[in-house]
Amino acid sequence: MKLSTLAEDLRQNDIRAVTARINAVNGINLGQGICDMPAPDAIKEGAKAAIDNDQSIYAPFGGVEPLKRHIVDKVRSFNGIPVDGPDNILITAGSTGAFVTAVFALLDPGDEVIQFEPWYGYHGGILKLRDVSQKTVPMSAPSWEVDFDRLESAITPKTRAIVITTPNNPCGKVWSREELEQLAAILERHDLYAITDEVYEYMTYDGRPHISLASLESAAHRTITLSSFSKTFNMTGWRLGYATGPEWIIEKMGLLSDLFYICAPSPLQYGLADGFATDRAYYETMLRDYDRKRTRMCEALETAGFTVPWPEGAYYVFASFEPLRDRPGFSNDKQACETLIEEVGVGSVPGRSFYTDPDDGQYLLRFCFAKKEHELEEACRRIEGL
Ligand SMILES: Cc1ncc(COP(=O)(O)O)c(C=O)c1O
Repeated sequence: MKLSTLAEDLRQNDIRAVTARINAVNGINLGQGICDMPAPDAIKEGAKAAIDNDQSIYAPFGGVEPLKRHIVDKVRSFNGIPVDGPDNILITAGSTGAFVTAVFALLDPGDEVIQFEPWYGYHGGILKLRDVSQKTVPMSAPSWEVDFDRLESAITPKTRAIVITTPNNPCGKVWSREELEQLAAILERHDLYAITDEVYEYMTYDGRPHISLASLESAAHRTITLSSFSKTFNMTGWRLGYATGPEWIIEKMGLLSDLFYICAPSPLQYGLADGFATDRAYYETMLRDYDRKRTRMCEALETAGFTVPWPEGAYYVFASFEPLRDRPGFSNDKQACETLIEEVGVGSVPGRSFYTDPDDGQYLLRFCFAKKEHELEEACRRIEGL
């Protein structure tokens, strides 16, 4: 019997493979961005109450009204995006659900999309499902600057959209206002959409602000902004995220979302609405904790001999072990990942997972520092002892 061509081509990605491998040796997983800290109590209580009150039926496909209203306030005040109201918001099964519906609402098979490398693998995987061609524009370590001339020359008559991720996974780049302004000018010149993934928007370091592309007046009408509760509230498994953008696009994305999976889990949406943290202290504490963990992780890797471009945002360190390449077990990223699992029981992700050409990631590993304090400390101690 034959599977679809699309299914035949699918393989388990390296990140999940590392999780399986590290679990088998009972090690510490700094690979997958699982983020296993507790979710806020108020949200958990809200969800329990919603389940007890039988808020168990399908939600409207766009999401439940109280949550959408909270998001409107948040998007206006935190992101500076001038939304009119709840019709500009779509609640989805994680930001991944939002990305899928954006791709299907904006793009046809054969269209081209530009992404920046290193990239987050799901974007490319989902674009492939829609038969959209991808062009990549490299960002180079250690500053991960964008070459705008190169970007513009990658645009062809088939290009329909540019995808950005800020803060970036894996490299932590945070797009500056100047860069976003240059991007907005290019979008306008070539009449393109932007899909911007901002799931790490609350995690920016050294006083760097998070700026949403859609807060620029010239870009708002052509931009879909994706975000998520997964990372902000430590609830990756709840599968709640959202998209915001022009009403005429959000409406179609909602209809697609309805066809794909009807709605995001309704009791969890009510729970989130009840416990939605608007309190600045929550975000400040979270950022302080991550900043401390970032320092610990970067210093441990530096002690072990890695070259470490400290991330500007998100909760990953994308570090180079090129200085160690002559040591046994460090000749390429896959081997180095395996060496770390075998020798010190620490999981990471091979750099090739974030590039089209595996050679570009051959001396890189990604480490996630969104871990409980004691686990991260133990992992860092082990890495320092390499
Ligand atoms: C850049 C980026 N976007 C999206 C996601 C997935 O988010 P969600 O859980 O909201 O689908 C991740 C998860 O690691 C991510 O790193």
